[in-house]
Amino acid sequence: MAHQTTVNHGQIDEQKLHGFLHQIAGDLAACSAGFMTNLGHKLGLYRAMTGAGPITSQELAKRTQCHERYTREWLNSQAAGGYVEYLPATQQYYLPPEQALVLADENGPCFFPPALEVSASMWFDEDKILHAFKNGAGIPWGAHNGRLFCGVAAFFRSGYAANLVQNWLPSLEGVCEKLQQGGKVADIGCGYGHSTLIMAKAFPNAKFYGFDTHEESIAAARANAEAEGLTNRVEFHVTSGKEVPDLQFDLVCFFDCLHDLGDPIGAAARARQILAQDGTLMLVEPFANDKVEENLNPVGRIYYSASTALCCAHSLSEEVGLALGAQAGEQRLGAVLRDAGFKHVRRAAETPFNIILEARP
Ligand SMILES: C[S@@+](CC[C@H](N)C(=O)[O-])C[C@H]1O[C@@H](n2cnc3c(N)ncnc32)[C@H](O)[C@@H]1O
Repeated sequence: MAHQTTVNHGQIDEQKLHGFLHQIAGDLAACSAGFMTNLGHKLGLYRAMTGAGPITSQELAKRTQCHERYTREWLNSQAAGGYVEYLPATQQYYLPPEQALVLADENGPCFFPPALEVSASMWFDEDKILHAFKNGAGIPWGAHNGRLFCGVAAFFRSGYAANLVQNWLPSLEGVCEKLQQGGKVADIGCGYGHSTLIMAKAFPNAKFYGFDTHEESIAAARANAEAEGLTNRVEFHVTSGKEVPDLQFDLVCFFDCLHDLGDPIGAAARARQILAQDGTLMLVEPFANDKVEENLNPVGRIYYSASTALCCAHSLSEEVGLALGAQAGEQRLGAVLRDAGFKHVRRAAETPFNIILEARP
């Protein structure tokens, strides 16, 4: 229970106060709007509006077999947020193609709704996180509400599908050429295995191994490999980053997970040991600049928040408990890789959400 206190406000600047209240109103609206967006995704409302042109609430309700009154109220919430346009003369609603790309195209480059599952999981786990702030204990990845795992996997998958084979792997020296001939790839902290499977589909002569400590994620990754018909070239194992077997990999990858580990230096040092002589490490991390003051923007706000409740919490649950945080930045990530024994580290690529480092022994 929070204690009631009387706060000495000091001199209040009315203009600043109103500016902040305006921001808070927007943030509060975004919290509820996130829930509305998830409803729209799960009920197929955005999908039904995609390419439909202006549509009435009656037509949309009929197409999606939803109740009209709920649908109309939801449409008004969408119009108030600018997600759809409202045409008062005909009382119709229109989903522009740009919004459809972000809200309805599950295989597109910027599909957004799964990220909301991550926020939902944090609310479910509020008690655990409150407790952890007080006692400093970690919260293991697997102890979170199940929405986290599929939300993270689906959110990151869009970025990987749009960039991994097209931009990130080609930005590494000689890696694509090697994988076209054959070779072995380790994907450490692979989660549901989307990154592993995207690479496996692009390089049919190579073998792929995904490792993660979370049993439920590895089970999902195996099911995904089965569904894609890739089990002859892709294996998934419940294994920690520091215990990955030495198969002399040509490429070892960490996708959005090195900062989550309690001992990222130890895991990177193991990666160095299990690389073939001419092998490469690819580190994909959330985009961040080096200084806090350079990350004070919406992407930083998303990542610092997730990092508080999820990334630092998991890292603190493992040995060493370095808690790098999701906004470590290139300098600190480079230092981790150098401490692990990599001599050559460089930024190979970036997107608004990711930074990609190449490391070689
Ligand atoms: C943010 S998720 C990223 C998952 C996946 N790479 C993706 O991009 O969707 C972090 C992952 O790291 C895994 N992980 C945490 N600690 C680990 C460790 N010590 N060794 C291997 N995996 C670990 C978690 O179980 C989780 O699946």
